[in-house]
Amino acid sequence: MRTILRLTASPRGSQANSHRFSDQLIARLKARHPGAELIDRDLSSNPPPLIDAGFSAAILGTADRSSPALRESERLIAELENTDALVIATPMHNFSTPAVLKAWIDQIVRIHRSFGSTPQGKVGLLSDRPVYLVLASGGWFTDAAPIEAPRQPDFLTPYLSTVLNTIGLRDLHIFALEGLARGDAMRDAAFARAEAALNALLPLP
Ligand SMILES: Cc1cc2nc3c(=O)[nH]c(=O)nc-3n(C[C@H](O)[C@H](O)[C@H](O)COP(=O)(O)O)c2cc1C
Repeated sequence: MRTILRLTASPRGSQANSHRFSDQLIARLKARHPGAELIDRDLSSNPPPLIDAGFSAAILGTADRSSPALRESERLIAELENTDALVIATPMHNFSTPAVLKAWIDQIVRIHRSFGSTPQGKVGLLSDRPVYLVLASGGWFTDAAPIEAPRQPDFLTPYLSTVLNTIGLRDLHIFALEGLARGDAMRDAAFARAEAALNALLPLP
């Protein structure tokens, strides 16, 4: 493993719970691959452009990769292609992804480039590599709630899994930090649970 790409989608940057846990994850990856370079992309402070009319026309037409309308998309896809492991650290926002992460997805999930359309459906065109999803939420969206709390709808995990699978990324590993808005004890329990999952997946050498 030579390159690790981390996307931070929280508006809270390095203070975010999702980002902080991803620091632990990246430390484990670097312990196993000492020479690996980390590329940090803070989507909140530097959001990808939203899809505009030029992009829309370019992907539906015959524009080649050098079309100016696709320049940023091409850059972000190349960055992803050149990475050996992808880490996405994101909060749940309104049951789904923050808008800045959706903006990144819209740039990199591109027909004829990162996926193809066949009679059997969409097929990924990128080679697979490990993807680590660190998901933070104020409440609970799995059945992990240690207290009486309504389980929320989860459009985050299935959505991220589906779009990543669509472009060929299937080796997904999910760490959920849930109940973070329920006080310090719940936050500590969420980190402990995620750390146990990390120890199981990437034990200390
Ligand atoms: C705009 C917004 C929407 C949110 N929507 C949800 C939600 O749907 N479900 C939930 O459990 N928490 C929700 N939260 C709470 C965050 O997921 C929670 O504070 C999380 O810890 C933030 O992660 P971070 O520390 O990595 O930024 C929302 C927070 C914000 C700011």
